[in-house]
Amino acid sequence: MLDDKVAVLDFGSQYTQLIVRRVREVGVYCEVFGHDVSEDVLRGFGPKSIILTGSPRSTMEESPLKPGEFIWSFGVPILGVCYGMQVMAMCLGGRTGKSEKSEFGYSELSLDVETGQADGGLFKDFPVTSRVWMSHGDEVSQLPAGFSKLAHSQNCCYGAMANVERQLFAVQHHPEVTETATGGVLFENFLLGICGLRATWTPARISQQMIDKAAEELKEGGDVLLGLSGGVDSSVVAVILHRAIGPRLKCVMIDHGLMRSDESKNVVEAFRAASEAGSGMLPEVHVVDAREQFFSALKGVTDPEAKRRIIGREFVEAFDREVVTKYPNVKYLAQGTIYPDVIESAKVGNAALIKTHHNVGGLPEKMKLKLVEPIRMLFKDEVRRVGEILGLPHDFVWRHPFPGPGLAVRILGEVTPERADKLRKADDIFIKELFRAGCYHNISQALAALIPSKAVGVKGDERVYEEMISLRAIHTTDFMTATVVDLPHQLLVNVVRRITNEVPGISRVLYDYTDKPPATIEYE
Ligand code: XMP
Repeated sequence: MLDDKVAVLDFGSQYTQLIVRRVREVGVYCEVFGHDVSEDVLRGFGPKSIILTGSPRSTMEESPLKPGEFIWSFGVPILGVCYGMQVMAMCLGGRTGKSEKSEFGYSELSLDVETGQADGGLFKDFPVTSRVWMSHGDEVSQLPAGFSKLAHSQNCCYGAMANVERQLFAVQHHPEVTETATGGVLFENFLLGICGLRATWTPARISQQMIDKAAEELKEGGDVLLGLSGGVDSSVVAVILHRAIGPRLKCVMIDHGLMRSDESKNVVEAFRAASEAGSGMLPEVHVVDAREQFFSALKGVTDPEAKRRIIGREFVEAFDREVVTKYPNVKYLAQGTIYPDVIESAKVGNAALIKTHHNVGGLPEKMKLKLVEPIRMLFKDEVRRVGEILGLPHDFVWRHPFPGPGLAVRILGEVTPERADKLRKADDIFIKELFRAGCYHNISQALAALIPSKAVGVKGDERVYEEMISLRAIHTTDFMTATVVDLPHQLLVNVVRRITNEVPGISRVLYDYTDKPPATIEYE
């Protein structure tokens, strides 16, 4: 059975990924395409429904962004969201104009029709008025012929419209954001009700599809090399590939000395759990002790970007050396690329570079390896669910993100083995206490950082002059912005007591209360 699919045509909205996630949450597979995708590409994909996103642009520009004319007679239901509604109106003979009052934030949506016939069921189970999230300065000012008005909001006459006969629907608000409480129902009504799609995109099916696809892609033979970071993505890739090609998968873990406590042990234990749920065989993991190489390259370096560049460079070198000497039959390099990276890198005019992210991007060309990316169409939460289905332990799969350059970006100042040890111990205490207090899974990311200034303290009647640890716990949905979490007082007291007692060289612990922005999540 093939999955039903939805195509999202992206007009540059900041919420495009959210639309895709909402559709997948309903259980329907969905992919993003450029707003001007060609008919051939779209027919090749074979969507049973199309969604048009919002946009920072305006239909009143001299050459506004438009989809290809063909989509209006493509033969599948279309839902326009915000700009998607305006562009639908404009292309089909209606009019758009500047709103008298822009709406940014909450607004009341009031239905003007009884749900059923006039709206095709789009607003089934909706109250007559509901709170929705708006973000627009333009609006539809005249409906195209054949369309009916379905709803209005305080400042917007046409809050929703439809031409049920042509299966064209549009809403001015943003059903994809969590602030719109009725958003999930609207997507269900549209996808399952109006479009009649089947909700088959479930973690169990996704897992099997990923395994089958990888087996097919790699059927010609040759070993596959995978760099394990200890993170969720590379671990899930390992389990998928191991199920697909067995011992042809070679996992290499470069221990740069900047990993969390017991990292390689934790990964191997997680694989053991997954193998018990699967074939019973463990993937081969080769841990390379490259600590000396990294620490000597980082000696005396304090500049954050220089550290990141050095770690990236040394990583490629260590990996390269291992492959050449140990794995002559390697033909492929596997990577844990996920869908948000794919969507973002396809976007024009990417955001300013804040940090050089460390990954193994330069490797495949240098090593003449073909790239395999088994999870490139998945969102992080889907990767985690697949991981669980494949038997990786819950706590491992739902771990907080950990940056590629490891503890280095949390060691302000020079990175030395001693300072890395201090931070590793403090980090381990903090994370274990979060688990013990039952707080870990309610936080998006928690970390400890080592501050390179000393402060005076007193330990056992003696004056000490030691470095400080800063603790940070944040909540975020997309890691682009983040707010600080208020941790329970007693938990913080325990963590501080344990760190100052158990980590030599630390006599003061601070709690970082800075949101992102202005601070980033990591310290460097
Ligand atoms: P920032 O510090 O930019 O972090 O607010 C946002 C998220 O990205 C993670 N991060 C990284 N992940 N390689 C990674 O794989 C990196 O170089 C890197 N730098 C930051 C960070 O942990 C947070 O989740």
